[in-house]
Amino acid sequence: MSGDNKIWIFDTTLRDGEQALRASLSQKQKIQLAHAIARLNVDVMEVGFPVSSPGDFNSVQQIAREVKGPIICGLARAVSGDIEACGQALQHAERRRIHTFIATSPLHLQYKLRKTLAQASDQAVAAIKLASRYTDDIEFSCEDAGRTPIDDLCWIVERAIAAGATTINIPDTVGYTVPNEFSAIISALKNRVPNMDKARLSVHCHNDLGLAVANSVSAIQAGARQIECTVNGIGERAGNCSLEEVAMIINTRKDIFMPLYTDIKTTEIYRSSHLVSQICNMPIQPNKAIVGENAFAHSSGIHQDGVLKAQNTYEIMSPEQVGIRQNELNLTSRSGRHVIQHRLAELGYTKDDYDLDAVYQSFVALADEKGRVFDYDLEALVFFQTLQEQNDYYVLDFLSSSTNTGQVASATVGLKCDGVLITEAATGNGPVEAAFNAITRISKLQIKMVDFNLQAKGSGESALGQVDITAEHEGRRFHGAGLATDIVRSSVLAYIHVLNMIQRAQTIDAHKHSRNGAEATAVGAI
Ligand code: KIV
Ligand code: ZN
Repeated sequence: MSGDNKIWIFDTTLRDGEQALRASLSQKQKIQLAHAIARLNVDVMEVGFPVSSPGDFNSVQQIAREVKGPIICGLARAVSGDIEACGQALQHAERRRIHTFIATSPLHLQYKLRKTLAQASDQAVAAIKLASRYTDDIEFSCEDAGRTPIDDLCWIVERAIAAGATTINIPDTVGYTVPNEFSAIISALKNRVPNMDKARLSVHCHNDLGLAVANSVSAIQAGARQIECTVNGIGERAGNCSLEEVAMIINTRKDIFMPLYTDIKTTEIYRSSHLVSQICNMPIQPNKAIVGENAFAHSSGIHQDGVLKAQNTYEIMSPEQVGIRQNELNLTSRSGRHVIQHRLAELGYTKDDYDLDAVYQSFVALADEKGRVFDYDLEALVFFQTLQEQNDYYVLDFLSSSTNTGQVASATVGLKCDGVLITEAATGNGPVEAAFNAITRISKLQIKMVDFNLQAKGSGESALGQVDITAEHEGRRFHGAGLATDIVRSSVLAYIHVLNMIQRAQTIDAHKHSRNGAEATAVGAI
């Protein structure tokens, strides 16, 4: 595969990224993210670990069915059950890849696997051969390759390629290596593994020392042709190599990287980054490269003056290149639905991304409340509309709260539970707590609040308040989000969102138990 100038982008936001979240995502959220990642035009997307849970299996299967474009990939340990689950989950993908792995470092072999390198290598070969019954696109990873002696690494890689692996991935699993050390590993593999030209060489770098992107870039310079990365760099511990950073490095420094290129559609970066941040409840640090709030903000007078005279004095890339648009829109409740549709199209949303009727309804309500609606409001409405699942069990009917300085607050909440209106009143230290207490009385669910986060969407007094809640119920964590001009209302909406997530998880569990019960009966009958 030498002479190949394209750098393949392998996105693992929905696998390595998702596995690090505090609350797992619903199937609908994963599918929504999968579509956004596909719009970035990645080459491969790893969308889950099918054997790990029925939920993961189902979402990998659903994404394989409906997301077109990139190769859809699932992760499997080098054991037959994992490979079979992965093969089945990916069955309906247009193009599918099985990614299997085993640890190769002395530390992992001795303490985790209690195996010799030869045993691990035999297991990898067997797994690759089994995977080839499901697809001819097989990736093999040497977990903890960064701490594996180079002779061992070359030996196992050669065997994996001979067994049928078409991509060899070298993970720096614990983010331990430094750039020249990591690129030396890649060069050694290229120079010493006799059949290396039969497979694409890939890297997967973690960011424990803040070097994931630097290591990935140095690996490209040494001959790697696939980068594994995630949107916003989310992932285990300090995260993975960030997709947007690596894509913009190659794009911006053509003077160094030409003729290398990626197929990433950079104008989709900003939007997908914000969607990942919102859905995963992982705020982006303001100074984050490429997508942080300050990434293109010039605060010092000298810089502002320079940019006005010539943009490239202080800007090495433009905000437009990564899809950032100015907030020019200024709509009122008299603006018609075609204006909204037109503006959303300008902002990059296609008709399939949202339900125009639902967005228009909330737009009119918001315009009545705020007077003027800006781009960021409109984008927030679209985002929240897509968060809504069909047929929520709990729906807010009304909310009234009152508070006076020095006195306990009170709230009355009317909640439709499966269509039946139930009303409760409660008190609390503040109006939010009072409303939550009333809702808890209605739902009767034991919920422990883990995290409550309020942020302003937009600027000025008329900014919308977004509340994100992470809450625990029976040992599982759920995330809910709410958006309104009034923060008590956004808090209540976020809490109700959590209740609906719990209710949905309970319904899935109930189905699973009844199915397992039926299977147990059938087995008993045999
Ligand atoms: O970090 C790692 O080693 C991994 C492998 C499964 C590729 O995520
Ligand atoms: Zn990883």
